[in-house]
Amino acid sequence: MIELRDAVYGYTGKVLLSGISLTLPPGSFHFLTGPSGSGKTTFLKLCYGELRPTSGVLSILGEDLSRLTRDQMAVMRRRIGVVHQDCEFLDHLPLAENVALPLILADRPVAEGDLTELLAWVGLRSRASAFPPELSGGERQRGALARAIVAAPDIILADEPTGNLDWEMSQRLLSLLIELNRMGKTILVATHDLNLIRTAKSQVAARVLRIKDRQVQLAGADL
Ligand SMILES: Nc1ncnc2c1ncn2[C@@H]1O[C@H](COP(=O)(O)OP(=O)(O)O)[C@@H](O)[C@H]1O
Ligand SMILES: [Mg+2]
Repeated sequence: MIELRDAVYGYTGKVLLSGISLTLPPGSFHFLTGPSGSGKTTFLKLCYGELRPTSGVLSILGEDLSRLTRDQMAVMRRRIGVVHQDCEFLDHLPLAENVALPLILADRPVAEGDLTELLAWVGLRSRASAFPPELSGGERQRGALARAIVAAPDIILADEPTGNLDWEMSQRLLSLLIELNRMGKTILVATHDLNLIRTAKSQVAARVLRIKDRQVQLAGADL
């Protein structure tokens, strides 16, 4: 669960997001839309604690962010999986190792069977030993999703995960996110692909947040 109360965020004095009060309940599925430069990526960074609000309250998984120590913050961050806009792979490591990285960094064991199963689930079993530069856009995005969920997070945040994908691959990625939501994960997807949102809404009770006039608000049912 992610909760904001009157949260404000700005870079170097310029307010980008203000007066944000909203709750993303556990197990919910939200999209985040808004024009380029409106603050979607910034909002996601707030939601995983990469940035802290300039003022107001932000609590993630029941913890008030302003009260967490660095160590507590690191523990909390492990419960959130992030699919970055540009995937952020380490190009010198094969895909399987990139996907396992969150476990390795957290000093947790990597069960080869689980890793293989995860890669199969995103349709990349045969690509396990490929290096990131050899992967197609769709393969990279599915690999990034696998890495985001390898440590079994409660919350998954995805930043324009279908940005460079064709429609068929976008739908495939969406169906993985919907499946994760059905397993009880809280999902937040930044996208400006309205077709993707419409398709999702026919399959899952997804809600749409829209950034407009520096506010993040629930959009109506008109999408
Ligand atoms: N690290 C930063 N320092 C200063 N300004 C930034 C930084 N990151 C983003 N911005 C600015 O904040 C605004 C929102 O950016 P962003 O959150 O990336 O929007 P979106 O993801 O919706 O395109 C943009 O004007 C961008 O230039
Ligand atoms: Mg962005």
